[in-house]
Amino acid sequence: MLKNGERLGRYVVESRVGKGASARVYQGRAVTGGSARVSIKEYDFYDRDVSRRSLRKRSFEAEKRAMPLMDHANLPRFYDIIETDRKGYVIVEYVDGINLRSHVDREGRVSEPQLLFVTHDVSQALAYLHERPDPLVHADVKPDNIVVTPDGRAILIDLGLSRFLSDGLTEKVGTIGYISCETISSGDIGPYSDIYSLGWVFHFGYTGRRPLTAPAHWKRDADRQGLDRDLDGISGESIELVRSCVDSDPFKRPSAVELANKLKHRYEKLTN
Ligand SMILES: Nc1ncnc2c1ncn2[C@@H]1O[C@H](COP(=O)(O)OP(=O)(O)OP(=O)(O)O)[C@@H](O)[C@H]1O
Ligand SMILES: [Mg+2]
Repeated sequence: MLKNGERLGRYVVESRVGKGASARVYQGRAVTGGSARVSIKEYDFYDRDVSRRSLRKRSFEAEKRAMPLMDHANLPRFYDIIETDRKGYVIVEYVDGINLRSHVDREGRVSEPQLLFVTHDVSQALAYLHERPDPLVHADVKPDNIVVTPDGRAILIDLGLSRFLSDGLTEKVGTIGYISCETISSGDIGPYSDIYSLGWVFHFGYTGRRPLTAPAHWKRDADRQGLDRDLDGISGESIELVRSCVDSDPFKRPSAVELANKLKHRYEKLTN
């Protein structure tokens, strides 16, 4: 654990931001080469539980591999990786804002235009990941991993479960409620799985309710009327868009590029 005022490489720790399942996150500042505000994510590899230990190590390795390659307005800027025997640190731009889950918990549901804006930003980040020559799948798109800034922009964080498509891994990873049906049934994870998760992020933002856990969630996936009911009050075109994202057939879902275009179009139509 880091203390306020502690130095780590060319950064100083200023406060603790939170503790996730696999790491602690601090806010800090660079002390040389400018004074950028940074987020310092600390993975502690020491744990008596072997499976937890290997999970942390793998998350850190995933971030270490992917994060330095990232350069996009809807992803945090990369600064550094620092590694010791027992710990790993991922240092990226500190995004001024609040994650979408806390935002909804505190302020309540999000309006349709705001949600179109936020999910558009996230789909832009996903388009960047998915359209790379060596495509990257985020694999953990959920409200906790989306930071919303005071001016309403959204930044997609946490590449701890990300994987390159070229690695050809099949694995049942993700977060219950957002994990796609193909991932949970056969470990299949592709760009389409991120789109599925984003569909449920939209649903969460509008209803303020977490998606149901596993079995009921799959039933809901097929339950068109249920989805329509939950999204009552939203324009038909937006409902159609969300429905296409959570389609149980991965190939019927839009690509991130298509989705970004459609969300932008919807947003402009609603706000002009
Ligand atoms: N770059 C950042 N800027 C601002 N806040 C951040 C940043 N990175 C993380 N956070 C905050 O810290 C929380 C946890 O970060 P992150 O998701 O990276 O950790 P985690 O341990 O993987 O969490 P979990 O395992 O629960 O998903 C986020 O939900 C967010 O509120
Ligand atoms: Mg996270």
